[in-house]
Amino acid sequence: MTDLETVHRTGLVPAPLSRDLDGDGTPRRTVRLGAQTALAAAPGTEDTARWLRATLGAAFGLPLPPGSADAPDTLALALDPALPAEGYRLDADARWGVRLTGGGPAGVFWAAQTLRQLLGPDAFRRAPLGPDRAARLPEQTIEDAPRFGWRGLMLDVARHFLPKDGVLRYLDLLAAHKLNVLHLHLTDDQGWRIEIRRYPELTATGAWRRRSRLGHRHSPLWDPRPHGGYYTQDDLREIVAYAAERQITVVPEIDIPGHSQAAIAAYPELGNTDVVDTASLEVWDTWGVSPHVLAPTDTTLRFYETVLTEVLALFPSRFVHLGGDECPKEQWRASPTAQGRIAALGLDGEDGLQSWFLRHFDRWLADRGRRLIGWDEILEGGLAEGAAVSSWRGYAGGIAAAKAGHDVVMCPEQHVYLDHRQHAAPDEPVPIGYVRTLEDVYRFEPVPPELTDDQAAHVLGTQANAWTEAMDGQQRLDYQVFPRLAAFAEVAWSHLPAPAARDYQDFTSRMADHYARLDALGVGYRPPGGPLPWQKRPGILGRPFDGAPPNV
Ligand code: ACM
Repeated sequence: MTDLETVHRTGLVPAPLSRDLDGDGTPRRTVRLGAQTALAAAPGTEDTARWLRATLGAAFGLPLPPGSADAPDTLALALDPALPAEGYRLDADARWGVRLTGGGPAGVFWAAQTLRQLLGPDAFRRAPLGPDRAARLPEQTIEDAPRFGWRGLMLDVARHFLPKDGVLRYLDLLAAHKLNVLHLHLTDDQGWRIEIRRYPELTATGAWRRRSRLGHRHSPLWDPRPHGGYYTQDDLREIVAYAAERQITVVPEIDIPGHSQAAIAAYPELGNTDVVDTASLEVWDTWGVSPHVLAPTDTTLRFYETVLTEVLALFPSRFVHLGGDECPKEQWRASPTAQGRIAALGLDGEDGLQSWFLRHFDRWLADRGRRLIGWDEILEGGLAEGAAVSSWRGYAGGIAAAKAGHDVVMCPEQHVYLDHRQHAAPDEPVPIGYVRTLEDVYRFEPVPPELTDDQAAHVLGTQANAWTEAMDGQQRLDYQVFPRLAAFAEVAWSHLPAPAARDYQDFTSRMADHYARLDALGVGYRPPGGPLPWQKRPGILGRPFDGAPPNV
């Protein structure tokens, strides 16, 4: 096979809308990017020009000096408002070079991601392998645009902290897969990960736990090392800016009123002090759903308004995620304060109290030009006006929300919870939840058939969720997330047919090229043949799905 044939066959992931490799029947020639190749960036394409110089420049040693779009041997970036905002056209022609034309800045950036894939795995390295490893691609035309506007990954940085470098690396990995939302789960029972200037104990106390359960919550094992960490406000500004340069929105999540033990450990007055001695509460060291939830008091409301004021200053995202999931009601049932609030406001019991919490912050966010998004429990007791739903306990919440005119992000745990094991074999590391293979994720359909076209328009898109109870670092995270995120990216971006009609063989043949890219990037994915010896975690108890809810 010649080099040209090799690059000619390069499989793209996610698959584009159309790709013309045959032209008008004339033999296709090779387009080379070399030391003389200029980069012409029209206004609005500067971020992509900077990214190309940093990325392809480093991989191939290309200087990419500024040039004019109509000169030969040019990589030309332009906008064409006739294209969809995230859509693009890529033209590669040996006579003049490569043109990347986007409907908007995002379209140009996604075109650059496609170009990088066409240049082969060397394009995913950070230094040139040698003068014989030129940047080249066959002449071709690609037209492309995404199916969904919300193509996300949720990273749980609360259960196990992912240091800032790891987050920036994941932003690069999202960009390489044309994903455009990073949902950061910043707070939970086991840790508070965002610096709040007004309340320093949230991180001084709330970011650290004494030890961690090793494996599933029924495991007898402990990791005796203290664990924790947090992002300073400057770290988060850097993460947000790095994401924005890659056309990615970072959606922060501050989980209320449940999943709040770390906050209560830092500020005991946030808890139900008339029911439990919250002064002796620590950041939780095990997994599951803590009974320690926020007290429905004015003190709590004012506290979280202050927290969210600082959150809004850091995150320009239109949507702010306020959790709302898994809020046990036992403490509220026992608390005279909570019961008094229910009576005074005429609320419908404890569910009504949860709804009251979320409605308060929904209004508060709306007054500041933002929109609340929460897990589908926020439907219980009535959904706040304008709120959007992350449908995680299956499709039902998303269907109900879309039928009621609310926007939805589909992320059902039965399909796209990447903490769940990806094979039934016993040597999967800390196996929990359902078996969801690469093919299962490839056949995930975000829009359920129950929705009419008008209702389906409320499905903003989809996201995969990576909860990290059983992932204590980047290697474990990579193993759970990849290669399934590549299949997920194709579901979110490409215009695939109905699940049964999807050509999984074609996807796996393109994945052969994609694994080479992931190798060049140093991603510790699960190999198709199963875990490598050092990817196994023998003896650490997981909890395969056995009929009971798989929640860890
Ligand atoms: C969730 O998995 N508790 C949203």
